[in-house]
Amino acid sequence: MNMKITVLLLTVTVCALNVSAQASEELMEKSGCVSCHRIEQKLIGPSFREVAAKYKSDKDALPYLLEKVRDGGEGVWGDMPMPPNSVEKISDADLKSVIEWVLQQ
Ligand code: HEC
Repeated sequence: MNMKITVLLLTVTVCALNVSAQASEELMEKSGCVSCHRIEQKLIGPSFREVAAKYKSDKDALPYLLEKVRDGGEGVWGDMPMPPNSVEKISDADLKSVIEWVLQQ
């Protein structure tokens, strides 16, 4: 392939990835996840790095985490419970993109 086209395609891909990461972070802010979660540090909930590491080779992680974050729960990371996150707070589609993003951290 022509060099210029390759560079152009790479640039477009990198930009698209940045936009989607930024969108996920904004979604998490809007939905209140950031009051308990950070990417790098444990806060009230586990850091998203730890979550991504834990489920790295778990192919059922996406459906499991969708349900867990929606309904809330405790006991996986400690005694502190995560409250349910309702559809009014975050839609199914938004929740899915946030969890997919979390699993890539
Ligand atoms: C009030 C604090 C709080 C809020 C708000 C919150 N979480 Fe959590 N989250 C927690 C706690 C505490 C845990 C650990 C639960 C456990 O140990 O089972 C957790 C666990 C998780 C996990 C790992 C679940 C598991 O079973 O391994 C994910 C993923 C997650 N949260 C994502 C989110 C997302 C996305 C949002 C926003 C829609 C959110 N959380 C909002 C406190 C919170």
